[in-house]
Amino acid sequence: MAAIDPGRKPSKTENHPLYVVRRSSVHGYGAFATRDIKKGEVLDEYLGDRITHAQADKRYEDHDENDNHTFLFIVDKKTVIDAGIGGNDARFINHKCDPNCESEIKKGRVFIIATKKIAQDEEIGYDYQIGREKDDPDNVDEIYACRCGSPKCRGTMLWPAKRPSPKRRKKRVARKSAKNASARSGGRKTKVRKKNKTKARKKKKRGA
Ligand SMILES: C[S@@+](CC[C@H](N)C(=O)[O-])C[C@H]1O[C@@H](n2cnc3c(N)ncnc32)[C@H](O)[C@@H]1O
Ligand SMILES: [Zn+2]
Repeated sequence: MAAIDPGRKPSKTENHPLYVVRRSSVHGYGAFATRDIKKGEVLDEYLGDRITHAQADKRYEDHDENDNHTFLFIVDKKTVIDAGIGGNDARFINHKCDPNCESEIKKGRVFIIATKKIAQDEEIGYDYQIGREKDDPDNVDEIYACRCGSPKCRGTMLWPAKRPSPKRRKKRVARKSAKNASARSGGRKTKVRKKNKTKARKKKKRGA
């Protein structure tokens, strides 16, 4: 297995004209505007190890499902960027329920772009929209609770915000398998990916 850089410390050498990484009240490190930023400005590119979803599953198969920390960003149904390995400081941009930027994919590359005016020193954040999985643990909303602090906070980094009722979940599963599509990767409905995926979890349960 590849050595995994926990990615906890921001680089000292990376030099961003638009943001700097420092401790955040939201979580760990965050990205803060170094000057007023205009809507539409490109803040950075999200970089890291480009791998398949299967490789990400394998890489994090031993990941504790109660740990919500992830640097995985979904590019499309084939590719995930793992900023835990070779990632740049864009990996420190936190989730915000009332975001001031968004991710845009251009030719397989992920760019973080301001969606409104951002004032100097304001924390930069986009909506992770972490996908829900059919076999999420019962406490998934607790695990992925949002601490963005906005009056508009929906309380979770997950998307959709509310967990469907068990009956609706069943229907959704049936619909998904019929289409052979998955919210975690297909059509990029979601952006940031959990480390522990369905397959990896099942395997762990089996082997436990
Ligand atoms: C890409 S990292 C962002 C950088 C992170 N703050 C750090 O220091 O490593 C994503 C992780 O940060 C945490 N995080 C980001 N935004 C959050 C929020 N609004 N509420 C709670 N945790 C958050 C979660 O653990 C998430 O999986
Ligand atoms: Zn929030």
